[in-house]
Amino acid sequence: MSWLEVSAALRELTQVRNDGGSMASSWRSFVDLVNADPGRHPFHLRAIVGIVEDVGRAQGPNRVRILDHGGGGCSTLLYLCAMGYNGIHGIDLHSSNAKRWNRLLSEVLDIQETRLFSYDGGHLPFADDSLMSCSASRFSSTCGRMWSIPITPRNIGF
Ligand SMILES: C[S@@+](CC[C@H](N)C(=O)[O-])C[C@H]1O[C@@H](n2cnc3c(N)ncnc32)[C@H](O)[C@@H]1O
Repeated sequence: MSWLEVSAALRELTQVRNDGGSMASSWRSFVDLVNADPGRHPFHLRAIVGIVEDVGRAQGPNRVRILDHGGGGCSTLLYLCAMGYNGIHGIDLHSSNAKRWNRLLSEVLDIQETRLFSYDGGHLPFADDSLMSCSASRFSSTCGRMWSIPITPRNIGF
């Protein structure tokens, strides 16, 4: 499917979110769209999807934990989540939009912990040793330095 189609489905989901309604039906439509043509992903997502799938094959999709460091509106995270990778986490310096998706996670996906945050750029909203190592990411060396964590292929940050 094209990114235009994905964006349209995301806009519809966002509208329902903003209106405060149930997102279950719009989420199901989004999931169906994302999975309509497995293996054919929007061009700009192919690299990260490939990485996630590699890790998912190695350790099982449910064990993959993903951080988008600069998650913005969470379009990439929501795309990966729709593919079945529920271990999404996002932080963003400026966007209050990101954390508004926590309602989708809790109400539709039964993920009760907060996964999406805005933050101050200095203090990551994760407990020490709770989450991240990074792999195959243009940010991996930065994140490794910032967080004093080993770079291993267990989890994914981008
Ligand atoms: C291109 S947008 C995000 C797109 C998003 N990753 C996606 O795939 O949909 C880049 C985001 O990075 C955020 N950002 C920039 N510098 C940052 C930093 N040091 N820490 C966290 N977020 C940052 C911006 O606020 C912006 O929302």
